[in-house]
Amino acid sequence: MKVVHSIEELRDQMRGQNRAAFVPTMGNLHEGHMALMRLARQHGDPVVASIFVNRLQFGPNEDFDKYPRTLQDDIEKLQERNDVYVLFAPNEKEMYPEPQNYRVNPPSDLGDILEGEFRPGFFVGVTTVVLKLLSCVQPKVAVFGKKDYQQLMIVRSMCRQFALPTEIIPHETVRDDDGLALSSRNRFLSPTERAQAPHLYRLLNKVRDRVVAGDHDIAGIERDSRNELAAAGWKVDYLALRRRRDLREATCEEVAAGEPLVVLAAAMLGTTRLIDNLEV
Ligand code: PAF
Repeated sequence: MKVVHSIEELRDQMRGQNRAAFVPTMGNLHEGHMALMRLARQHGDPVVASIFVNRLQFGPNEDFDKYPRTLQDDIEKLQERNDVYVLFAPNEKEMYPEPQNYRVNPPSDLGDILEGEFRPGFFVGVTTVVLKLLSCVQPKVAVFGKKDYQQLMIVRSMCRQFALPTEIIPHETVRDDDGLALSSRNRFLSPTERAQAPHLYRLLNKVRDRVVAGDHDIAGIERDSRNELAAAGWKVDYLALRRRRDLREATCEEVAAGEPLVVLAAAMLGTTRLIDNLEV
C-alpha cells in the first residue's frame, strides 16, 4: 500500500487509472470501514482510501479536538488486509490551503433536517470535503456506509446535481453481535454505557415491528419510542420515521399503501452521541 500525503503524489499514483474505487474516512478504522474497503474492491481497481479528520464538519462545541487520530494503527490495519492500494492522508493545509473556503451548500429540505438540525453546518462540511476528495481521486465509484443514512443521500444527490462521474455505492451498517452499529465514537462509551448502547438498535427494531404489524400512527410510535429512550437515561435529539426517498414525513395513507420508510435516531448516552437507522 502506498501512503501519500499530497494531492500531487496522489495524482501521480492515479495517472491513467479510470476504474478506481474510493472509500473516504476520518480514520480510527474499525471493522465497519474494513467492510467498505472490501466492497470497494468488488467494484473497482485500484482501491483508494482517505483519512482526513475534517474540521469543517464539526461544530464549535463538538469533538474535533478529541476525535481519535490513529494514523499509524490505521495504516497497519490496512496493510494487514491488503484491500487498499493507495491511502491518501492529507493534512489540513493540503485540503484547505486558503484562509477562506468555497463551500457546498446542500438544499435545505435535505440538509437542514434531522442531523442537519442538530448539527448546523455538518453537511456543508461533509459535502465540501467529499467534493474535494472526489475531485482529487476521480474514482469510478465511492462507497459510503448506511449508518450515516442522510449523509449517503446528500452525497448521492450532490453527485447527481453536479453531474459528477462517480457512482455512490451504499454499504449496510456493520454491527457488533449485540446490534450496536460500529462507530469510532463507541470507544468513548464507559463499560456501563457500552452495555446500554444496543438499546437504540433494539428500539429501532421495535418501531419497525410496530409498522410492519399494521400500526400506522407514526406520531404515536415516535413519541412512545422517544419516551422509552428518555426513560432509559438517553437524551434524544431525534427519533423519526421518514420516507426513504426524501426523508420527509409520510402520511398515514402513504404508510398504509406501503411507502418505503426508514426510522432514524440520534441520542446522547452520557457524553457520547450515537446515531443509527433501520429501513422499514
Ligand atoms: O463519514 C465520514 O467518515 C465522513 O463524514 C466523511 C464522509 C469521510 C467526510 O469527512
